Amino acid sequence: MKSISVIGSGTMGNGIAHVFAQHGYTVALIDIQAAQLEKAMATISKNMDRQVSKGSLSEEQKTEAISRITTFTDLQEGVKNADLVVEAATENMALKLDIFRKLDEFAPKKAILATNTSSISITKIGAVTQRPEQVIGMHFMNPVPVMKLVEVIRGYATSDSVTEIIMNLSKKLSKIPVEVNDYPGFVANRILMPMINEAIYSLYEGVAGVEEIDTVMKLGMAHPMGPLQLADFIGLDVCLSILRVLHEGFGNPKYAPCPLLVNMVEAGYKGAKTGEGFYLYT
Ligand code: CAA
Repeated sequence: MKSISVIGSGTMGNGIAHVFAQHGYTVALIDIQAAQLEKAMATISKNMDRQVSKGSLSEEQKTEAISRITTFTDLQEGVKNADLVVEAATENMALKLDIFRKLDEFAPKKAILATNTSSISITKIGAVTQRPEQVIGMHFMNPVPVMKLVEVIRGYATSDSVTEIIMNLSKKLSKIPVEVNDYPGFVANRILMPMINEAIYSLYEGVAGVEEIDTVMKLGMAHPMGPLQLADFIGLDVCLSILRVLHEGFGNPKYAPCPLLVNMVEAGYKGAKTGEGFYLYT
């Protein structure tokens, strides 16, 4: 495994490209917008500077890592030499299925096709390809350079050998992989999102204010961020779409998104990325 193509250069995509390049892999970073790719390279450079200032990366290692990343706006060109593709495009089912149909056509037959989806079914994504045994979930956590976990999700048809390759590869990135099966929300979001939703319900029902709820969870449960701050950080639209996947997938009302979350997303208050969610970002 040498050559990795990463699709999507947003927060997750640029973090994934960063980590692979830092660990010696050749990375093709692909996005439809050239301006977004430029922004992603600047973000990677800035995040590597943090590591340089902390002494966990030297200037020379940074320069080498950056030089291993090439950007592409053409999907076919960007995946033609891939050993592994990690898709980190927008969390939209139709878009992901379309990308995987194209990947199946353009990526080498031996290439493993991974997705960083936070909740869309790996089995469903695999089923639109001719190689479902080579399709797998590789779910990184934000901020990717910092968080140790990779949730490795086996679709119904994913082979044992592909799972083993991805588990080992994750270790080579200095991450700790955990293997899980493909059911709605996998493990991370099946547990995280109901907690976030419950925090939003607590606010909606007037049990306590934003800062009070977050303080209880930060100081009482030693969470690095309170659930409302974390929701802002993840993106309220992303939280809503994951809760909808859980609600539909299990058909259980306990996963129904809080009406306050629905209203905030509909009004465009999507958290840190839009400047306002439960907190203001200036
Ligand atoms: N790139 C590189 N390094 C980064 C970074 C980045 N993007 N962001 C932070 N860091 C580094 C900092 O340089 C710092 O390094 P040192 O420990 O060496 O000093 C370290 O990370 C901690 O950062 P800060 O001191 O700036 O701030 P902090 O202590 O408040 O930590 C945080 C920031 C790591 C984000 C912490 O608040 C945290 O762990 N929050 C929770 C994150 C979380 O739960 N993520 C999962 C979200 S769910 C998800 O991603 C999946 C999904 O499907 C929704």
